[in-house]
Amino acid sequence: MVDLQRLIGRIHVAFGERGIGKTSLLRAYQRLAEERDALCIWVTAGESGGLVAQIIDGIREATSSWPQEAAKSVRKHLDELTVTVGFPGVASVSAKSTQNPPVEAVGARALEKLIRTTTADRKRVKALILFIDEVQSADADGIRTLAYAWQHLQAEASDIPAAVYAAGLPNAPEQIADAVTFSERFAYRPLEMLTVGAQVAALREPAAELDVAWESEALELAAELAAGYPYAVQLYGDAAWVAAGRPDAGSTITARNVKTAQTSVDRDLRNLFAARWANTTPNQRRFLTAVAWLQEKSDSVDRADLAEVLDVSSRSLSSVRSRLIAKGLIRSEGHGRVTIPVPGFAGYIRELEDDPR
Ligand SMILES: Nc1ncnc2c1ncn2[C@@H]1O[C@H](COP(=O)(O)OP(=O)(O)OP(=O)(O)O)[C@@H](O)[C@H]1O
Ligand SMILES: [Mg+2]
Repeated sequence: MVDLQRLIGRIHVAFGERGIGKTSLLRAYQRLAEERDALCIWVTAGESGGLVAQIIDGIREATSSWPQEAAKSVRKHLDELTVTVGFPGVASVSAKSTQNPPVEAVGARALEKLIRTTTADRKRVKALILFIDEVQSADADGIRTLAYAWQHLQAEASDIPAAVYAAGLPNAPEQIADAVTFSERFAYRPLEMLTVGAQVAALREPAAELDVAWESEALELAAELAAGYPYAVQLYGDAAWVAAGRPDAGSTITARNVKTAQTSVDRDLRNLFAARWANTTPNQRRFLTAVAWLQEKSDSVDRADLAEVLDVSSRSLSSVRSRLIAKGLIRSEGHGRVTIPVPGFAGYIRELEDDPR
């Protein structure tokens, strides 16, 4: 992210499974932005009241310490937007009867004005950045309002230094597409598992700052065991550090430390998998079990094979399939193929449940 001189016209959405590092990525952007004196508003979508109400609260809070004079017009527009989105039921009834302007359009204008006034004094606000985590849980009205506001800004005020960075589960693009008919306002980026190099860097660099080295065999082993899953990398870093006796400067973390760490990492991952498993319906479990066994010998699983193993029509699978994608437990690989992407989860399921074939 460069210094923001103008509007970032597209709403950036990073998406991926649970534990892949979405929140960490947004927090890292936020740190960079704050170092550059940007005003950062953080929203975890899905709370009651809706996305726009959360943005209002965020801006209200972030500007609460501003002197009276500076805050005056921001407050005015905060209040205006609050009124606009405050009675969605009433507004949408009247919007329906008159056809236009729809409530989101009115809200979008008010939100646009709020963004403009918040950034009006460049000496006070170098840039305004909205961070939206768990964006798949945002209300459709809120997404629409935000998208329209950004549309307007892009068309009419592209010199305003503002941006939106969002992150969500793999169904986020679909949820957003359901909410807004035009999708060119959004830029999507899938988050993948980490490469070996990225895992090595994630393990080595924080230790190096404390003058603790990692043996190269230890790094290789940890990267192999974590298999690119950021959450597992995090666990290995922590557990190997403990296994090495919380080393002093000048010490080295060894492959043996990593092997010792494996027991506790496996336990933590199993707890995580158990919680995810517990959070599924019997129907979803049957589906997951079939995928887990079918993917034992290949990377992804064909829809027709799944239907055969489960003895149902391939079409009847689509609702359970999309629920599991929404939960971040399976990933679509295109052409109806799916996979359980989080390393270790498929193996966990195979230990739990017999092969249905
Ligand atoms: N690039 C990375 N390198 C190493 N570890 C990482 C990286 N990104 C995230 N992690 C670690 O992985 C774990 C999960 O990260 P994070 O909470 O950001 O994931 P998430 O995608 O937001 O998960 P959720 O969907 O559950 O909210 C954390 O312990 C974090 O420290
Ligand atoms: Mg998160």
